Amino acid sequence: MLLRAEVSSAALRGNLARIRAAAPGRRVLAVVKANAYGHGLVPVARCLEGAADALAVARLEEALALRGAGIRAPIVLLEGVFDAPALAEAARHELELVVHDEAQIALLEAADPAQAYSVWLKADTGMNRLGFRAAAFGAACQRLRALGPRLARLRLMTHFASADRPDSPQTEEQLRRFAALRQGRPEEVSLANSAAIFSRPDAQGDWVRPGLALYGASPFADRDGQSLGLTPAMRLASTVIALREVPRGETVGYAARWRAGRDSRIAIVAAGYGDGLLRSLPSGAPVRVAGHEVPLVGTVSMDMIAVDVTGTPVKTGDPVLLWGPELPVERVATAAGTIAWELLCAVSQRVPRIMR
Ligand SMILES: Cc1ncc(COP(=O)(O)O)c(C=O)c1O
Repeated sequence: MLLRAEVSSAALRGNLARIRAAAPGRRVLAVVKANAYGHGLVPVARCLEGAADALAVARLEEALALRGAGIRAPIVLLEGVFDAPALAEAARHELELVVHDEAQIALLEAADPAQAYSVWLKADTGMNRLGFRAAAFGAACQRLRALGPRLARLRLMTHFASADRPDSPQTEEQLRRFAALRQGRPEEVSLANSAAIFSRPDAQGDWVRPGLALYGASPFADRDGQSLGLTPAMRLASTVIALREVPRGETVGYAARWRAGRDSRIAIVAAGYGDGLLRSLPSGAPVRVAGHEVPLVGTVSMDMIAVDVTGTPVKTGDPVLLWGPELPVERVATAAGTIAWELLCAVSQRVPRIMR
């Protein structure tokens, strides 16, 4: 197998334990949407089932895949449902629903009165994506309460827009707005994503909702996961499939975007944008070949990249690490001008996931 994503169950569980230590006494809603951030939805859910208090996905299809695989843990649908058939399906599979707009409340009001739903009512405290703003929040709460026995449980939540930037005043403002909204309400609350878990102990609420930190990466631009006590759960590993000598002045790859400034030894690695590597990864991005960090050169192609191994003892068949514990995905993301979340989620279906 040339390219594979090796996923460490010990790292996933260790990261969960680290999150619990950072948020003592809180319950953990483990975010496994988007194929568990590229790590493999079902295997990750199996690994965390029982260790996390509940799982969260964005869409009904993701939840159904989990139930189909026999996952019995509570599952929260972070976007809720959008029509009556989806609501019936959610009921059949005992999914918990985020409710973020009035149409979703109307669906519940019109639903089979014999069914009961666990609802997470979402407040928009400044993200301006999903949720009820302050003026509508009280009325939404009342309408849900009026569902009577159809409302099995009500909890409140909001989502931070800038918690990954601890110096941003936005988190403070969102907290202030949320405190005003929930005043006098007895329901459990959930606010914190990975960044807030580590940077805002005062914002952890009853339930924390880690995504990225579970997978061992840092949400903060200025530090990596290891400095937060996390272990990268994925090793995106591949192999050198060819080596060539490229004379000074020759170019490498599509559109001749890299030119050898000296006689160079170039290793070709089985990994490309067909595997989810971003085509925008520039020359100079770090790659580890046979334990040595070397620069990517030229344009990422569908199935291959080239790296400059001049002066480095490398042979065909040598192991390559695109990211993992020895090369944090955050560093690769920075080189690509993006974030770790995007690189992890982009790992494509072609890449075998191997859970260890
Ligand atoms: C509503 C919600 N909560 C929690 C998370 C987890 O965020 P993170 O991966 O930053 O921990 C997400 C991810 O986007 C989300 O949409």
